[in-house]
Order: sequence, then structure tokens, then C-alpha cells
Amino acid sequence: MTANKPNQMWGGRFGEAPSDVMVQINASIDVDKRLYKQDIQGSIAHSEMLVAQKILKPDEGRKIQDGLRNILAEIESGQFVFSTALEDIHMNIESRLKDLIGDVAGKLHTARSRNDQVATDMRLWVKEAIASVIAEIGAFQTVLDAQSKAHEKTVMPGFTHLQIAQPVTLGLHLQAYSDMMARDKSRFADCLERMDENPLGACALAGTRHDIDRKMTAKALGFRQPVRNTMDAVSARDFLLEFLSAASICSIHLSRLAEELIIWSTTQFNFIRLGDKFTTGSSIMPQKKNPDAAELVRAKSGRIAGNLMQLLMVMKALPLTYNKDMQEDKAGVFEAYDAVILCLRASAGMIGDMNVNKEKMLADAGSGYSTATYLADWLVKNLDVPFRQAHHITGQIVAMAEKKGQRLDEMSLADMQAAEPRITQDVFNFIRISEQK
Ligand code: ARG
Repeated sequence: MTANKPNQMWGGRFGEAPSDVMVQINASIDVDKRLYKQDIQGSIAHSEMLVAQKILKPDEGRKIQDGLRNILAEIESGQFVFSTALEDIHMNIESRLKDLIGDVAGKLHTARSRNDQVATDMRLWVKEAIASVIAEIGAFQTVLDAQSKAHEKTVMPGFTHLQIAQPVTLGLHLQAYSDMMARDKSRFADCLERMDENPLGACALAGTRHDIDRKMTAKALGFRQPVRNTMDAVSARDFLLEFLSAASICSIHLSRLAEELIIWSTTQFNFIRLGDKFTTGSSIMPQKKNPDAAELVRAKSGRIAGNLMQLLMVMKALPLTYNKDMQEDKAGVFEAYDAVILCLRASAGMIGDMNVNKEKMLADAGSGYSTATYLADWLVKNLDVPFRQAHHITGQIVAMAEKKGQRLDEMSLADMQAAEPRITQDVFNFIRISEQK
């Protein structure tokens, strides 16, 4: 026995109520209630257009719009009771509208379907989300750029294969991330540019026989224009795939930085100390300061990229047009958005707050024969030796230094000259690194 009632939106054709399991699998309200603002915004624009086209009478339009504004206030003040039986945000709002204004509420859904409605809501939501992500990336870049400037002359080892390669500056290293963030911003902006079209008016899939004005609703909702093809309008989700893909790439960038912060803050590296605000202690080991925020930024990139895969798999091979599978498009997008915002804030916090150990960075910058390339370059510049040969001579010098347990700049000139007699004292100025003034 089920206590469910036949659906009030389409009960006419149905003899039996849905089973509990059907109600459970079908409901999306827990996820899509997040679209309440966009849903109401879309409904107000739609009803205004219906009035302008004389499909609704002005007083009907007014009742509907006032009712919708009351519902918005109810939701924002936490009074609204969401119902699983009413499935989704669209029917929760429409049903409440009927409670508030009576049967005229039923006229709102003229020349509309939940298919174009949900596609419109999602596009409106993603447009706002992109604006916030771009602003958050910008804030992170400000922090990166300030640290980059402050450490313009802070020498540190640059790595390839996580082996010390050549000296660089911390400024150069951090600037690389600022440039990645600039590209991430442009990826989000590009996604916004392409998705800025209004699905509303496509109705279920084939448009409507009512004389609607799709340009009017597009303008009212701030879209550039209506989506041209009604079948595409209700079934396209590539704008979500692009959003998730931009979020994934951005989070992968953040995970690389997080990994570096984790490595740099180990006792072994000791390049930086992360601030107390972005670390945790251990409940058993009193000496510990763990880079949890960085680790979570690193881990959340997996969740975000996973959500991209999830939606790609949902959309794969779906025939046109709307399929209920597409209801599963929202949770991953919302989660990815929340995670990417949080990761950007945590990354900005850690970078802004970190303490840099310049002495250790400088000392390590000169270790591991990191200036061997400089020595080879000196040979090329001053002795006109072909680079391949200079590379070979330098290799011999490094081998000799290694045998003696010396750094390159600690070697005697005589030892260097054993490999190449024409080397002069001034080579040491070329290969020695020091804190830049
Ligand atoms: N809750 C649905 C979704 O998110 C709304 C669209 C339902 N359309 C339908 N034809 N059943 O996809």
C-alpha cells in the first residue's frame, strides 16, 4: 500500500499513485532546490511575455508575478516547505503558486514545458557561477602576483623530474601559476560566451502553436538571443560539460600547486612554513603541523574531474531530445562549483600566509650542480666551443667535483683547467649564485 496521491500535474491520465520507490528515484528536489531563484526569474519573464503577447490577461499576469515574488520571499526566509512528492523545484513552486493564487496559477505553464524550463534555469545558474569563479580566480591571482613581486629576487632551485635542475626565482615559479589562472579565466569566459542563449520557448521539444516572443524572454533574462533549434535547446548539455571541463583543468592546476606546497613544507625541503590558519596539528604527535588544506585541494581535484566524467557518461549516446537521465546533470555541477571556489580560496589563503625560508632555498639552488648549464654556456660564449662539446667538458668537471665532494663553485681553477685548459678565473662569477640584490 502506498500513501502517495496521483500526481496533481498529470493525474488525469493516471489511475494509480506512484510507488514509494518511484517517488524516491524520480525526485530531484534535494538537489535542484538550488535553482529556486533562476526558476522564479524564468517564470516571471515567461509570464510577462505571455501578457505582452495577449496569451494571458494583465491581471492574471500580475497575480502570477506577485505570487512568484511571495514564494521567493518564503524560500529566502526559510519558510517554504519543499516536498519530495512534488518531485522537483518547478513543481514545488507551481504547486505553492496554486495554494497562494488559486487556479490561475495553472496558466503559467502555457507555452512552456519543464524541459525548456530546466534548461533555462541551469543556463542562468551557470552564467552566475562563471562570474563568481572568474572573480575568485582574479582574487587568487592578486595574491599570487603580490607574492611573485615580493619574491622577484628570491633564488630557489627549479626542478625537472623533481630533481634540482637550474636556479630560478620564487617569483618566476609563482608567476607560472598566475599565468595558468589567466588561462583558466579565459576558458570559463569562453564557455560563457557560447552558452549565452535562451532555451525558453522551445517547450517540450517542438516549440508551440501559441504566438510567443522568444526574443523578449531572452532579453528579459539577459541572454544574447534564443537558442535557434528547439530540439537542441532542450537537449544540449555541452555547456555543463564545458563548465565542468574548465573547472577540472583549473582544479588540476590548483592540485599541482598544492602538491608543491606539501613538498616544500616538509622537514626535508624546508622551503616554506604554511601558516597556522591553513594547517592542522596531530592528536598524538605534538610536533606536527600538517598541510591539510593543501592535501584537500589536491584531493578535491579528483572529485571535480570525476564529475566531468560522470556527466560525459550520462550524456553518452542519449538520443534527442530530453531524457530523464539528464536530471542527473545537476549534482556534479553544483558540487564542482562549490569545490573549485573553496580550493581557490584555500590556495589564496595558503600562498598569502606562507613563510618563505630564503636561506634554505638559496642553499639548495646552488646544490646538485644546478649551475652546470651556466658553466657550459660560459664555455660556448668565451671559448667558442660547440654546445655539445661544452656539455661534455662540463660533464667531466661535474664528475670530478662529485668525486671530491665539492660544489662547482668550490672547485679550484686548476681542477677545471684539467678538463679545459683555457678556462679562466672569471668563470666563477658566472656560475656562482647569490641572493639577487
Ligand atoms: N527535474 C527535471 C530535470 O531536472 C525537470 C525536467 C523534467 N521533464 C520531464 N519531461 N520529465 O531534468
